[in-house]
Amino acid sequence: MFYKAGEPHGLKHNPFNAIVVPRPIGWISSVDVDGVVNLAPYSFFNAVAYTPPQVIFAVTGRHATEGGLKDTLANVQATKEFVVNLATYALREPMNRSSAPAPRAIDEFTLAGLTPAPARLVKPPRVAESPVHLECRLVQVVPLLTGDPRSPNSLVIGEVLGVHIAEHVIVDGMIDYDRLDAIGRLGYMDYTRIAGVFALERPGWP
Ligand SMILES: Cc1cc2nc3c(=O)[nH]c(=O)nc-3n(C[C@H](O)[C@H](O)[C@H](O)COP(=O)(O)O)c2cc1C
Repeated sequence: MFYKAGEPHGLKHNPFNAIVVPRPIGWISSVDVDGVVNLAPYSFFNAVAYTPPQVIFAVTGRHATEGGLKDTLANVQATKEFVVNLATYALREPMNRSSAPAPRAIDEFTLAGLTPAPARLVKPPRVAESPVHLECRLVQVVPLLTGDPRSPNSLVIGEVLGVHIAEHVIVDGMIDYDRLDAIGRLGYMDYTRIAGVFALERPGWP
């Protein structure tokens, strides 16, 4: 089949996010200028550079209940900092609960029953229950194309300033994927865990 983007695809649901799979989930904590804490998952998320390490995530559309920008984007633009917490299988329910379109004043750590732990280099708290945290400063917000200016799409680029890794996920100096048990986002309401890991040596030249 072929469909032109923006025209009917004839399928039950938009297949787009079931094609680019699996997507890592950046579970982003941020604070507003008054220190009100926010937490939400973003699966248009990835690591994009090593030196210095950088991550990106995209905020699509507006706040579902209050209109205007989603809290994460409003906070990151205002305070220039965020923390990426790793979403794991054990944390799938609180991760999902933290995606509720709660009013701005609601702290999703409380809503999802999670414990805030102080970060070292930035103000937003870390999710204590998560085994990995990336403390980030905002580099740039890049406006993306949108069909409706009231529903903006924005790419957030962040520099990773500090990395926390729980000792229990490190085995022989390497991250153990089974112990990490990160989850990824598929399409529809589907998720995946890491299984069937294999290695490939990179080719040299000549
Ligand atoms: C697993 C998962 C991934 C999500 N990924 C995104 C995403 O990449 N971009 C986005 O704008 N919303 C995404 N959402 C929806 C947001 O989490 C949701 O709009 C949330 O209410 C935003 O919260 P905030 O206003 O506190 O930032 C995702 C939700 C879930 C459950």
